[in-house]
Amino acid sequence: MRILHAASEVHPFSMTGGLASVASSLPSALRAAGHDAAVVTPLHRQDGIDLEWLDGPFRTPGGMEFGLGRSEIPGTGCPVYFVASNEFFNRPGLYGPSESEPYQDNAARFSFFCGAVLEAASRLGGFDVIHCHDWHTGLLPAMSSLSGGPPTVFTIHNLAFQGTFPMDQYPVTGLPEKYRGIDGLEYHGGFSFMKGGILFADAVTTVSPTYAAEVTTSEGGAGMDGLLLARMSDGGLRGILNGIDCDLWGPEDDPSISPWFTSDSLRRRSGCRQALASECGLEIPAGALLAGVVSRLTWQKGLDLVLPALERLIADRRLVLAVLGTGEPWIEGPLASASWRFPGRVFFKRGYDDPLSRRIYAGSDIFLMPSRFEPCGLSQMIAMRYGSVPVVRRTGGLADTVPDVSGGGCGFVFDSAEPEALREAVGRAAAAAADPRAWRALQRRAMRIDNSWKARVPSYLELYRLVAGGAGA
Ligand code: GLC
Repeated sequence: MRILHAASEVHPFSMTGGLASVASSLPSALRAAGHDAAVVTPLHRQDGIDLEWLDGPFRTPGGMEFGLGRSEIPGTGCPVYFVASNEFFNRPGLYGPSESEPYQDNAARFSFFCGAVLEAASRLGGFDVIHCHDWHTGLLPAMSSLSGGPPTVFTIHNLAFQGTFPMDQYPVTGLPEKYRGIDGLEYHGGFSFMKGGILFADAVTTVSPTYAAEVTTSEGGAGMDGLLLARMSDGGLRGILNGIDCDLWGPEDDPSISPWFTSDSLRRRSGCRQALASECGLEIPAGALLAGVVSRLTWQKGLDLVLPALERLIADRRLVLAVLGTGEPWIEGPLASASWRFPGRVFFKRGYDDPLSRRIYAGSDIFLMPSRFEPCGLSQMIAMRYGSVPVVRRTGGLADTVPDVSGGGCGFVFDSAEPEALREAVGRAAAAAADPRAWRALQRRAMRIDNSWKARVPSYLELYRLVAGGAGA
């Protein structure tokens, strides 16, 4: 089949979160399975990309000009088409000058992007389906159906970000007046890109089956639950788990870690643990656990629970903690001060550091993800691949990918978003780790779970065939 993906960020060119990983590795996996997948994304201010410019001019349906440059996802042959516009995309941030501050013209920027994707699809020609990711692409389904373009799949990676704008900006969408009302994009007096995607796509997906069920409830639906429930009951909403790119992530040949190991040579892993401890200035008391965190530091991720839950264990020399991540100051602040209060026991690096993240996956005993909600989550799957045993809250994709040890699974799962529940789960992990042979068996089970994209591709293909009406091969 021929599938065009549209996403506002694509690894390794631009990235603020898991969306960029999926927008890169899903098309690559489709290609590896013999399908003709490509990606369209904005040319944010990115240096050093070698672009082959296509002959223009290119114009959105609204008549705005843009450039189209082609590159590839490294090592995969998967084409990436960059939409270039000095007016809208040549800026320091992807969505705003800083993480907490959006650009004032985001409605115009992403309306323009949707129009540009549609034009690129028609110029490149022959697509069976356009696969749209998150709110930034939420106008594409309506635009494509209005202009007789390809059918669309719309994937919700995170319902918390809905692209809602004041109604007086509606004209920048270029959509007809008939979509302005409550049966269209209208949402609490404004209009929402996310609502447009949900309403007008031929099929809607979220990134795990449990999250698909959660978003149809008032607790998990972020105001869109009624709409999503309606789409679920007409068969238009399903959950398909994300995967990870096992060529990019794996302890058997990761250039950032030493020594390499596999599930058959787990004893070697202690070298990675030692190396991580010395890199982070951590001293691990005998019998203590080394807990790792690699995450955006936001309310969603629940990392504010970690210190209240684990301070006692840290003070009692039973646990040391290595945290890598960046985000909201109210979560960063206490982590930074804990690293001063517990020197040698708590390490905190504020930022994004790919090689260090790999050493945390490879060297930690347990990996913490106490998320309040989690559409899918990629880090727990990466951690499992590197033999770090996940301790996670039972929500969204975490519930789907981490079976608890009590049922023969390979992780420690807890229910309530409270420090006490996390402490109890970590306590269970500590008790299990006291038996090294049993612990290695647990790590082996985690490492052998197949979370590769290859395993997920058939579900997407089935859906693409459905929306394309049986077209394509
Ligand atoms: C978002 C979600 C995360 C998901 C990722 C990729 O970042 O918060 O749970 O794994 O998108 O789909």
